[in-house]
This record gives sequence, structure tokens and C-alpha cells, in this order.
Amino acid sequence: MLTPQENERLTRVGRGTPMGETLRRYWLPAALSSELPDRDGAPIRVRILGEDLVAFRDSDGKVGLVDAFCPHRRAPMFFGRNEECGLRCVYHGWKFDRDGACVDMPSEPPDSLFKSKVTINAYPTYEAGGMLWTYMGPPEFQPAPPDGELLRAPATHRHVSKTYEDCNYLQAVEGGFDSAHVLILHNQKIGDRSFLSNYDATVPRIEVEPTDYGYLYTGIRSRGDLQHVRVYHYVMPVMQIRGQNHAFDPEILTINGHYWVPMDDEHTVIYNFMYSDNPAVPLTQKFIDESEHEIGRGPEDLDPERPFRLKARLSNDFFIDRDLQKRTFTGIPGINTQDIALQVGMGPIVDRSREHLGTTDRAVIVLRRLLLEAVDTVEAGGSPRGTDPATFRALRGGNHTVEPGADWHEALQAELLVRF
Ligand code: FES
Ligand SMILES: [Fe+2]
Repeated sequence: MLTPQENERLTRVGRGTPMGETLRRYWLPAALSSELPDRDGAPIRVRILGEDLVAFRDSDGKVGLVDAFCPHRRAPMFFGRNEECGLRCVYHGWKFDRDGACVDMPSEPPDSLFKSKVTINAYPTYEAGGMLWTYMGPPEFQPAPPDGELLRAPATHRHVSKTYEDCNYLQAVEGGFDSAHVLILHNQKIGDRSFLSNYDATVPRIEVEPTDYGYLYTGIRSRGDLQHVRVYHYVMPVMQIRGQNHAFDPEILTINGHYWVPMDDEHTVIYNFMYSDNPAVPLTQKFIDESEHEIGRGPEDLDPERPFRLKARLSNDFFIDRDLQKRTFTGIPGINTQDIALQVGMGPIVDRSREHLGTTDRAVIVLRRLLLEAVDTVEAGGSPRGTDPATFRALRGGNHTVEPGADWHEALQAELLVRF
């Protein structure tokens, strides 16, 4: 449970708010690289941390991320011409390069110096892992660019997608670390429902170890005579890395995770990623398609009218099927949709002063504590935890079965060594 003040502090992301200023100290994904396939191609709209921006890939292949509105008379830059290393506003022709400098102003006399005095707000960008990243904070605090195994893996070995979610980012992030829900919400076969009384099978023992980047999270469940250990990482402020075995193709194991990036206080973009655990094994398109389909994020689940949005949404009750609910736990098809249904159904910003957290909510509690600590650090003029990429460049998740009583750190040591 939080005080209403703490909840405000954690959830508001606009410029000038405590969390808004804190999130601006990190590199964040702003778009998929695949949204900007061509040099001098069509610009795209980007909404991030409550700011409206436009991204364009210039003639050099580098991406500019600038204010969505022209500094002349605030015309929409989205309609601009992307040409000869700059984006030209089509209202009066002012042109800006990817750094925001005004490089042409045809509406002013040729000898005018006005051009040199005008800029469009532009943020630094960086491309890696199939994503376009940006840093929106003070230049003097700009960290080294992001790093990690996903960002180093070749394009043949990784897959990144994105989905919009209509609620505050923190509901989505917390959902990722609320592992007690996994065997309940995502249960696909209720059977005799006895699993609900089988404490060991449903309730994981959780270990949360704070680190320089966020925390290392372990969920340990008894399974027969063995213990099943899942190792996750929370990389501040909005990322999860987890290890996952896949059943579709026994040859391919993947590391998976998400970035949950606030568009504004009440909307989030989820960047979903997976990459092959093994440099000798690229991902196949079949594997990618089956994985996305299985969790409810396949092409047939997406709304053709609204890019990156699911057909299932609150206004159609996420297609809940009360008959199916007699056999699966939720009656909502698709694991991903189940998570989103519950998080969005809480309302745009959940009132955390009305919660009653139990023992398995520990990971959520520590996550909030770390975020509040980061806000305090930024307010005191310091650099928050998790801004230095050296602290998270060598992380991977794990998913393993170990003998009871065995030290999982030792048992999983080899599996947790990065291979890219
Ligand atoms: S509004 Fe953009 S050039 Fe005039
Ligand atoms: Fe879930």
C-alpha cells in the first residue's frame, strides 16, 4: 500500500513531475527500427512521457526525433517532407536537421540571420536491438547508450514487437513482476480445481535481491521432487529480462522480456522482445509466429485499423467468454491479453492507497521502493540506480529445475552467462 502522495509521485510522467524527471535520466525505447525502414521515408508520430514528437530517418540513415510542431507557427511536422538530411515543414518550408538546427528558411529574405536563432527541440537517438532509443533528460546527465545481450544479438537471432496498453506504465511494470498470478490468471486448464489448494504448486517462494541496476528476482516452486527456479531481472526503470523455455521447437530456447514505456500518464507502449539463447541457433519465422500467436499477439489478434493495438479491449471486455471461463481461469484467450485485461481493467491509474498486499507481493513492493528511491536521488541532484549500462550489460534470465536444497546460484551459473 502506498499513500496517495506516493502514488502520484510514482505514476505522473510529464516534464517537471518527480517521476517524469527521473524517467528522463534513462535511455528509453521510442519506436521500433522497423517503423522507419527507409532513408528519407515517411516520418512517424511518437508520444513518449507526455510529449508529442516526430521521428524521421534522414538521408544519412540516422534518426532525428523532434518536436511534433514546427517552431514557426506550430504546424504539424508529421506532414513534413523528409529530404536531403532534414525534415521540412510543409507550411512555410522551414527545414530542420536531425539535431534540431534550422538549415533552411525560404520564407525569410536570403540575408536574414533569423534562421540561426531558431531551433526545433530535438532529442539524442541511438539505434540497437531493433529499437530506436532516446534520452530526454539534461545533457549533463546523459548516460552511455543502452547495452545488453538483446542489443548485441544479431537481427537473425532476435524479435521485437510492440503493443499499446491503455493504462499507466506502473500497472504494466508491476504486472511483469507479480509472478504469483502466473499459475492463477494464466491457468489454461482448471481440471478439478485442486491446484488452488495445492500451496506448493501455486505459490512461489520469492527472493528479491536489490542490485546496482534494479533487482534480481527469483521465483522458486516445488514441482514433484524438484524445484523449479525462474530468474528475472528488473532493470530500472521499466525493463524486465526473463528466461523462458519454449515448447514449439525443442531446438530453440529464448530469453524474453519487455520494456514498458509511458506514452503519458494513462497510456503505455509495451516493447516485447525475445532472442535466441544460443549464437548457433537463429530464430525462425515459424517460431516467432507461433510464439506471438500462442500469447495472443499474432497478426489475427491485432486490429488492422489501429496499428500496434489488440482487437481485444476494455470496450469489448477483452472477448471474455464465460463458458470458456468454466475451463480456463479467465475465459480470456491469450496470455498477453489476460495480463492487459487485468491491468487496464484496474482503471487508468490504480489507487494504490486502497490495496492489501500479501507476502507474494514482495517484488512489487521492492520495485516501488527502488523507484521512489530513484526519484529522491534525482531530486537531491544525484544519478539514480540503473543509469550506468555497465551494471546491466551482462544479464540474462534463467528457467531451470534444480535438486531440492541445491544452491540455485551455482546450478544456474552456466545458464546465466551471456553468449552474445
Ligand atoms: S509553420 Fe512550419 S514553416 Fe511555418
Ligand atoms: Fe501475466
